[in-house]
Amino acid sequence: MNIYDLIAKRRSIRKYEDRRIEDDKLERVLDAARLAPSGKNVQAWKFIVVRDQKLKEQLVPACKGQKFMAQADAAIAVAVNEEEVYQGHGNYMTSFAVDGAIALDHLTLAATYEGLGTCWIGAFDEEQVREILEVPRPYRIVALTPLGYPAHEGRDRGRKSLEEVVIYDKWN
Ligand SMILES: Cc1cc2nc3c(=O)[nH]c(=O)nc-3n(C[C@H](O)[C@H](O)[C@H](O)COP(=O)(O)O)c2cc1C
Repeated sequence: MNIYDLIAKRRSIRKYEDRRIEDDKLERVLDAARLAPSGKNVQAWKFIVVRDQKLKEQLVPACKGQKFMAQADAAIAVAVNEEEVYQGHGNYMTSFAVDGAIALDHLTLAATYEGLGTCWIGAFDEEQVREILEVPRPYRIVALTPLGYPAHEGRDRGRKSLEEVVIYDKWN
């Protein structure tokens, strides 16, 4: 599969098979996240892989009742150290969310390549997830995803056309 087919193939998966991910597959997917770029190459991230069923079930209410968090073989939380990351992003913010998002995107694409499903989870309560997974400050939880064998293909949600989203040179 080439990179363009892979990008087009990825879908949010919200139903998972009761099937364990092979260790080598899991490691390759995590390695794709590890290889992501980050501001000043600080790599101030941790990828928390939750496979304990009880912990995954605790994550469901912390993720606004999204039950598939406990259905997939693993739930992954991306935590980034807010104090360690590049502090001058755009001259107005730190890069913790950007760094974490790139890493998670690498992970979702690698998972697709491996035949695994993911779903970006932004609907979660950071403090609840922090407590359940014992994530210390100043780590911020950027997002989570379930990771497992998909039980459906996912729906094509469509995208805006290139004309709608691309600007060449100046805005006007
Ligand atoms: C930052 C972000 C947060 C998201 N949060 C959730 C979420 O909490 N639950 C969910 O089911 N999908 C969530 N999604 C998935 C989007 O709804 C989905 O990516 C979008 O509808 C496009 O569909 P696709 O991923 O299948 O292409 C999130 C996506 C992003 C990028």
